[in-house]
Amino acid sequence: MTYDTLILGAGAAGMMCAAHCGGRVLVIDHAKAAGEKIRISGGGRCNFTNMYAEPANFLSQNPHFCKSALARYTQWDFVSLVDSYRIKWHEKTLGQLFCDNSAKDIIAMLRDLMDKAGAELWLETAVESVCQADGLLHARLVRGGKPLTVSARRVVLATGGKSIPKMGATGIAYQIAESFGLQVTETRPALVPLTFSAQPFAPISGTAIPGRVRAGSGSFDEAVLFTHRGLSGPAILQASSYWTEGDSVHLNLCPENDWMAILRQARSDTPRRQIGTALAEHLPKKLAQHLDEAWGLQDQLANTTDKRLAEVAELLADWELTPTGSEGYRTAEVTLGGIDTDELSSKTMEAKDVPGLYAIGECVDVTGWLGGYNFQWAWSSAMACARAIAASD
Ligand code: FDA
Repeated sequence: MTYDTLILGAGAAGMMCAAHCGGRVLVIDHAKAAGEKIRISGGGRCNFTNMYAEPANFLSQNPHFCKSALARYTQWDFVSLVDSYRIKWHEKTLGQLFCDNSAKDIIAMLRDLMDKAGAELWLETAVESVCQADGLLHARLVRGGKPLTVSARRVVLATGGKSIPKMGATGIAYQIAESFGLQVTETRPALVPLTFSAQPFAPISGTAIPGRVRAGSGSFDEAVLFTHRGLSGPAILQASSYWTEGDSVHLNLCPENDWMAILRQARSDTPRRQIGTALAEHLPKKLAQHLDEAWGLQDQLANTTDKRLAEVAELLADWELTPTGSEGYRTAEVTLGGIDTDELSSKTMEAKDVPGLYAIGECVDVTGWLGGYNFQWAWSSAMACARAIAASD
């Protein structure tokens, strides 16, 4: 069985590539259905791209690598495709574009494009390894419990990362890449809730607040959610991509507030109140109570010096917390790191030293922010690969 192109993985990147690369194409996936992550994404409405996507929204050891693919297939190119299928969409917030109806509309669109391109799809087919011989690439597959080998002129690695093993993530792309001698950068869960072994926020679990979260070189203004196990919410998920174990995160509660001015005003308006009680006017009650106990805010405002007020204001604007871990791949939206971009052409996604082997989507060391950026990388990298394949035939 020989194909022009064998695409491993029928996720966002694999389907997009199959729809556009031309020639005799086979796509395989061990799941029962194609595009399972698309189906569950964005709460079932798929945040399929972001209006403001640009290279600065992506993490990689080489931040320049993603530029070419993103520039040659932009968010507006994908929006035009979605529009051509009359899929209705809306901006939710911060440029995040979601389907009005269902994520299944995006899957149906990709399946239709694949059908029109004549691409074959084998589901419930797992890949175990790939090797190269006699000018072809040969993939060892398991289908219906039986091993078989499929050969192709080109193989595209599109099996994603390690996030959410329950949904079929295996990390096999890394193993295949390494078997060809390609470097894989360190991988870790990203866009993931952070945890604390002592569970300090269990009593205020469910409390949400606008915040600015800083970790490493990342800083994000969005909601923060206190959970039973630790911290979540968009600002924390974003910051998690910049956080490494042992580091602290810095939390600014309600960054719009001038806490020193607020506390001074409270001291002049309600001098008999305790500091903690005054804070409860400006923070969710449970959180104010938690801070009152954690930071000892029982002093009466009238007896509080400017120095002490400044200390409290500083704590509110720069609360340093050291998570003990993250929820890991079990809930991480993406995998940070992956196939080293030094090994790939940024124009074609082909391995520089293994002609015919390509890698696209999440398995590559390019990771987007929360908000539609990861799908945009899947679409853009898939199109770079597909166009290169189409042009080479
Ligand atoms: P993807 O994971 O989509 O596809 C890989 C495919 O390979 C899967 O179908 C898998 O079954 C298959 N596979 C794996 N191992 C295999 C093997 N050994 N043999 C055969 N097949 C194998 N991003 C975004 O931009 N907007 C959003 O709204 C969301 N929402 C979201 C929600 C949740 C819960 C998660 C977990 C993730 C998101 N994401 C997201 C991230 C986004 O889903 C992700 O970045 C893309 O799906 C990556 O596309 P890929 O095609 O690279 O991998």
